[in-house]
Amino acid sequence: MVLTVTGPGRYIALEGAEACGKSTHAVLLANELGAVLTRETGGTRIGAAIRQILHDTDNHELSDHAEVLLIAADRAQHLAEVIRPSLAQGRHVVSDRSAYSSLAYQGYGRGVPIEVVRSTSDWALDGTWPELVLLIDVPPEILAQRMSVRELDRFEQADAAFHDRVRAGFATMAAADPQHWLVVDGTGSMDEVAATIRSTVRERLGI
Ligand code: TMP
Repeated sequence: MVLTVTGPGRYIALEGAEACGKSTHAVLLANELGAVLTRETGGTRIGAAIRQILHDTDNHELSDHAEVLLIAADRAQHLAEVIRPSLAQGRHVVSDRSAYSSLAYQGYGRGVPIEVVRSTSDWALDGTWPELVLLIDVPPEILAQRMSVRELDRFEQADAAFHDRVRAGFATMAAADPQHWLVVDGTGSMDEVAATIRSTVRERLGI
């Protein structure tokens, strides 16, 4: 895996299943650090248009290959407009999801060969992968409860086996690379989880 340190600005990603709380914690962490808060997909105007295609439940015929490439296009635009300029200015970047979501969802979940997803993402990112990945882990039963009260998008409508593979994929990546990943227990209170995230970032990155 390519992990690039580009300067004083650090690139941190929050990952996990839908409804795990990562968006809330991305906001809290970015506020704490005075970082640029962003997200994949949809972190740019063009990315938002791509995200609509990806999430639209009418687009059931979208092929797995097209999905990988649309997400890679979002990612390349995000690198050019948000990630690279922010890091170049010495700003920290906190992103709600990253290329690791593609490895989990399109690779482990959809079954697109991991190396294809990795190399496509790497090309889109020009080698700029997050330095620290915080995986917010919440048991499927709790996630199912949270999801039962919302309208599901195209990804969320995928069957339970898909979501199990995604979860296992995240766990596999985190276990294989403990230097860059940290699994955070997402079942605690919002304050507890935020404190764990904050102290991990301080410990790992010194910020
Ligand atoms: P979220 O931003 O609300 O979590 O939803 C984003 C959805 O997009 C989520 O279901 C995961 C999916 N996704 C992928 O499948 N691959 C990716 O690379 C990214 C960034 C997101």
